[in-house]
Amino acid sequence: MVRQDQHTIRDYVAAMGETYSILRWCWDEFVNDISRKAVRKLLCFSTCGRLVSLLYPWLMGLGIDALINHDAKMAVMAVVGTAFNYVIGAFIERFSGHAIELVLGENLRTIDRRSNEMFFEKELGLHLEEGTELTQANMEKGYNRLHTVQGSFLWTGIDSALTLIITWLMLSFLSPTSGGIIFVFLGVNTLVSLGFNRFIMVNMEPVDAMFRAINLHRNGRQEGVERVITSGRRNSEIEEMDEAFRKVILEDRRIWFTYVNSTVLRSVLSGFAVTLTGLYAGYQVWIGAMSIAELVPILTWAGMASSQIRLLARVEREVNWCIPSLRSLKEALTMECKVLDAPDAVELPDEPLTIEINNLGHTYSDKDAKGVLRHVFFSIAPGEIVALIGRTGCGKSTLTRLLQRYMDPMQGSILVGGHDLRSVIQESWRSLVAFIPQRSQVFDGTLRDNILYGLTGDERLSVTDEKILQLMAVLCIDFGSRLTNGLDTRVGRRGMKLSGGEAQRVMILAAVLRKPRFMIIDEATSSLDAVTQAAVQAGIYKILRESGASALIIAHRLSTVMHCDKYVVMKPVDSLINGDPQVESIAHSPAELHQVSPIFRRLADLEGVRIAGIQ
Ligand SMILES: Nc1ncnc2c1ncn2[C@@H]1O[C@H](COP(=O)(O)OP(=O)(O)OP(=O)(O)O)[C@@H](O)[C@H]1O
Ligand SMILES: [Mg+2]
Repeated sequence: MVRQDQHTIRDYVAAMGETYSILRWCWDEFVNDISRKAVRKLLCFSTCGRLVSLLYPWLMGLGIDALINHDAKMAVMAVVGTAFNYVIGAFIERFSGHAIELVLGENLRTIDRRSNEMFFEKELGLHLEEGTELTQANMEKGYNRLHTVQGSFLWTGIDSALTLIITWLMLSFLSPTSGGIIFVFLGVNTLVSLGFNRFIMVNMEPVDAMFRAINLHRNGRQEGVERVITSGRRNSEIEEMDEAFRKVILEDRRIWFTYVNSTVLRSVLSGFAVTLTGLYAGYQVWIGAMSIAELVPILTWAGMASSQIRLLARVEREVNWCIPSLRSLKEALTMECKVLDAPDAVELPDEPLTIEINNLGHTYSDKDAKGVLRHVFFSIAPGEIVALIGRTGCGKSTLTRLLQRYMDPMQGSILVGGHDLRSVIQESWRSLVAFIPQRSQVFDGTLRDNILYGLTGDERLSVTDEKILQLMAVLCIDFGSRLTNGLDTRVGRRGMKLSGGEAQRVMILAAVLRKPRFMIIDEATSSLDAVTQAAVQAGIYKILRESGASALIIAHRLSTVMHCDKYVVMKPVDSLINGDPQVESIAHSPAELHQVSPIFRRLADLEGVRIAGIQ
């Protein structure tokens, strides 16, 4: 990263290098072969187009000479040449336009696909990290800025750069001294650009971070509109967001004003270069060393070269404006994945598996010395339904994440079918597991779309409506007359048309339909009333028993997990001394658990749970 307190040539070059590496990354990742081919064609068309257009001044000079010398033949040649030039130019423009549209379309698709690939390939642990760049707001901003940059290059950048190079080459050919003057001006301009590039890279970094924070805040508040309004915070939120924006925009303006001021310097330099060239060429005509036919193109080309530099400065401004967002897009999408399939990873067979949790320990942050999980041992036999009990925050959901390899544990291991989870092909494990999370994640679409979400195309076709309705009956999913369009009823954005309990049951049904070998149910019935919860839980047990799948069930109401095969009670990490195991007790019946687990006894007493065989 470039440091603000240093101003050596190396820093300037490093800032330019960073801009280049970000743009290079965008090119490598988001420009496919079709688009590259089209860019090459575009370069050819543009070169031809520029060559043709640069002949105008020359033809014009020829025409003027013809008029002065009364040379009719030359005058006709100049007129015909000009007309011919126009026609060729128009066709070249058409081909270039097609190539640009092709590039834009292809890139649009590739950017969408590649950013999706890179976003979804990241392990869930990275998505859950505090302060991660992997946010929807960052993705969207980077995505929009990518379009701005490519539009800028395609519509202005390529053409201007080619015009500049060709004009300069032709100018140098016609008059090496004029070419030399423009070359010096180009060199000075490049140095100025280098300086401003670094200025933007260094100064815009914190400003862009502030913009990102504002975006994140706004997205969160807009998503949580219900809480904002019911908390009476509507006006204060608007004011606070406006104030935050006002502050950042002041800083942003300060930077861009400085940048814009540089255009004065550039314009003066540009005018100086053109005037100098004009003076030189005019003197040559004065002393008879140059003809008017040469003077006109020299003056026009010198003017064109300087105006291209101004156009390129605009492209440079746009690119600089986009670079901070592209940098955070790059940082987010190139985050190193730590959870990868080992080269010799094994495919798990589709059969009942034993799960062993061996001395498991984990922490989300290096600063948290105590961690979230410590010395956790227990196992789940094939077909066994295990209840995980523990106070809030003791790490139950973290355990479910480790079981699904959102991240790898910092200590100990999880064995499935005798294989360490780290040496198993992730997809093969995922295909055997169904997870019902603590918070329902219903998507916009129909009820059917949501229910069949976890199935492959063929599997979806094999699931009949009768089967779905039968399972809905088992799981007490009854939407009554609210299913206006049967299973094709739309559930709204994030399932907003469903109640919390309905959404949870849709998630359960979707998980069941995947016919898993192992189900993880993380407080998935917490939104249901006690009677419905017991009925739904009974439905889940029935399905699990019939399919022979094993399960880990976390429930905050003990009454609903009283029919499991095994009970694991976890202590909070804070209460552990030295090498204490975090699992307080393991039992095979509520009565046994009541005997061996003080935590369970306290929870059961508080809830007033009646346990068979216990007074
Ligand atoms: N993504 C995360 N980053 C940092 N810390 C986290 C993260 N998720 C959870 N934690 C912390 O880890 C601890 C355990 O959280 P976890 O969600 O596993 O608890 P839990 O037992 O499932 O609680 P509950 O019963 O309330 O759902 C908590 O102190 C929590 O603050
Ligand atoms: Mg939890």
